[in-house]
Amino acid sequence: MSSAYEIIDHKYDVIVVGAGGAGLRATFGMAISGLKTACITKVFPTRSHTVAAQGGISAALGNMAEDHWEWHMYDTVKGADWLGDQDAIEYMCREAVPAVVELEHYGVPFSRTDDGRIYQRPFGGHMRNFGEAPVQRACAAADRTGHAILHTLYQQSLRHDAEFYVEYIALDLIMGEDGTCEGVVAWNMDDGTLHVFRANMVVMATGGSGRSYFSCTSAHTCTGDGNAMVARAGLPLQDQEFVQFHPTGIYGSGCLITEGARGEGGYLTNSQGERFMERYAPTAKDLASRDVVSRSMTVEIREGRGIGDDGDHIHLHLEHLGPETLNQRLPGITESARIFAGVDATKEPIPVLPTVHYNMGGIPTNYRTEVLRPTVDDPNAVAPGLMAIGECASASVHGANRLGTNSLLDLVVFGRAAAIRARELVNPGDSLRPFRQGCADAALDRLDRLRHAKGGSKVSEIRLDMQRIMQNNAAVFRTSEVLTEGCTKIDAVWQQMSDLSVTDRSMIWNSDLLEALELENLMISASTTLHSAEARHESRGAHAHEDYPDRDDENWMKHTLAWIDEKGKVDLNYRPVHDYTLTDEVEYIEPRARVY
Ligand code: FUM
Repeated sequence: MSSAYEIIDHKYDVIVVGAGGAGLRATFGMAISGLKTACITKVFPTRSHTVAAQGGISAALGNMAEDHWEWHMYDTVKGADWLGDQDAIEYMCREAVPAVVELEHYGVPFSRTDDGRIYQRPFGGHMRNFGEAPVQRACAAADRTGHAILHTLYQQSLRHDAEFYVEYIALDLIMGEDGTCEGVVAWNMDDGTLHVFRANMVVMATGGSGRSYFSCTSAHTCTGDGNAMVARAGLPLQDQEFVQFHPTGIYGSGCLITEGARGEGGYLTNSQGERFMERYAPTAKDLASRDVVSRSMTVEIREGRGIGDDGDHIHLHLEHLGPETLNQRLPGITESARIFAGVDATKEPIPVLPTVHYNMGGIPTNYRTEVLRPTVDDPNAVAPGLMAIGECASASVHGANRLGTNSLLDLVVFGRAAAIRARELVNPGDSLRPFRQGCADAALDRLDRLRHAKGGSKVSEIRLDMQRIMQNNAAVFRTSEVLTEGCTKIDAVWQQMSDLSVTDRSMIWNSDLLEALELENLMISASTTLHSAEARHESRGAHAHEDYPDRDDENWMKHTLAWIDEKGKVDLNYRPVHDYTLTDEVEYIEPRARVY
């Protein structure tokens, strides 16, 4: 079947898949180091989802008040509910300050203090002096920080000798028989051609899989493509059960209202006008970590104190901040509130609801961004030739719950780390493994199968079934009954996939085929999320299990590893959370009660 397709062969030292913040930072870092680098991207680089990040990028610059990277590290470990690997967290928080200074030098138009320094605002879970009170650590470009960073990184990329393959859909990895990654198969949507990109290192930077849910802040492109490619290559996904609900998605549309709004002094109320977060988090209040705020909002709604005719949302107040602050600091979300909620935020509260926002889990890596292929003897063994960075990866710096603004930081720190590590492992011009006839067959057979799918179910119908199951069965709160039902239902949807119908047979701009490919990818995220969640019998970070309401450090200080086969069968295993730091300069932070 696949021999019907003609393949165009490309050779590089390194291939980066994805052109968001992480992909771009890695791409030009590799090009600068002399590696012949190609970046394959599904969308034009400046349309990548990083563009939607709003409130800031964290770094203990101390521009507004005293701050230290060790405090940032403590907050990140605590925010992660002790599921993060502290060697990786130390690396990220240490590197944060030089990373943001580097961004400033690259030209990111950060907002400024009166004396010209980078403006920093408070954000959830970022505290001074190991949890005392909120600290201003989020370096912001108004409420369009991701936009500013993404455009700057793309401009930097153009200064260097990297090649971009835009609107190329990465289909699958090429894996050698010894488990070494040898390249990527991709489809050029613009002219319908098929390509094999061979390289000594492949870097996945494909973002999250928020679109497996019905309501999320993620772009429609966030379909877990890289995670699925890695899973189909026989490697595990890690900690998929940890899905972050951002407290303030606009009610109805899911559009993001930045946590920076609460950083600037915004607050939440219930139907009684009560600032309820004071009851749940007496110190941090509305600036507690996201899992805590989202749970508190959900409890308020469940207990009958939600807003509106159906009592099903919460109010976010910004009107007391005044038009001047809103215009200067939060212009984007003021506009979003008007467009998506019909609300003038200078005069009235915005209706909000916890909304799926981020995948803490993903492709397991070490802090150097090498993908893990854990074995019984060595839980830290790596898969040669393969790296992962950004939201598709799980380093694991975010553990069970990510702090806001640590995502943009993760992108640039680990994008740079990938460039450094790739240059250590690959020399420019190193010979590639010989081209193996048939190396692209599995990927092309998959494309061909979907292209000619003649079943009775539209992609949109099956996708909606999947999204509803995820929304109902893997929500802010979970029970064994709901999760077991979710596993049964998602397994049934997997079976339904064989009934897919794709009506457009063309190879050029075939969105029907593209969405079918994306749906297969999303199903891998959805299924591994539900099965991993069903098996974790404790509550930790974003995984709030009502039958097991406590964190269980004795039995569950371990990362879930989920393998999935072509029939949708999920196998689980675990690897221990690292109980060590990167250097002796900081001590391992022992697990303790998590209060805000
Ligand atoms: O609320 C926000 O601005 C989102 C930031 C983040 O997810 O890091």
